[in-house]
Amino acid sequence: MTRRKEFTIVEEGELTEVAKALIEFAGEEKVWIFKGEMGAGKTTFIRYICSELGVNENVSSPTFSIVNEYSCKNGQLVYHFDFYRIEKEREAVDIGCEEYFYSGGICLIEWPEKILNLLPERIIEVNIVSDGLNRKITFSHD
Ligand SMILES: Nc1ncnc2c1ncn2[C@@H]1O[C@H](COP(=O)(O)OP(=O)(O)O)[C@@H](O)[C@H]1O
Ligand SMILES: [Mg+2]
Repeated sequence: MTRRKEFTIVEEGELTEVAKALIEFAGEEKVWIFKGEMGAGKTTFIRYICSELGVNENVSSPTFSIVNEYSCKNGQLVYHFDFYRIEKEREAVDIGCEEYFYSGGICLIEWPEKILNLLPERIIEVNIVSDGLNRKITFSHD
């Protein structure tokens, strides 16, 4: 059974509440994918999520490195991926992405469309759609 939750947000500050809701929604699931066009607000939302998870480091898109590693106050590790620039799934395999996905660390993945065959079966999907004024953020979990 698919679970689903949807939010409409008008201003960025509301992302704090949505981030808290996502953390609760995800429960023990560790792999969270973020879909949405360029500029939809994936990295921004991830910044708020990391803040709620207790990450004290600067959170920005790992454009050149593919993955950034952050640690939370409680020692939990967070891996932030951006697969936008890869051309073949092989490149993701080569950086060891599957080891990250099954490591027990929380994996936040931008541009998961690039690595669909490598994703674990159990994932939390986040969709962000911006209509220029508001943003609709949907969580779903099969
Ligand atoms: N919820 C929001 N409310 C207002 N502005 C936002 C929001 N989310 C993102 N932005 C702005 O939109 C731009 C693109 O956001 P970004 O998170 O980099 O998008 P993406 O990672 O999806 O490409 C940034 O300038 C950011 O400040
Ligand atoms: Mg981004």
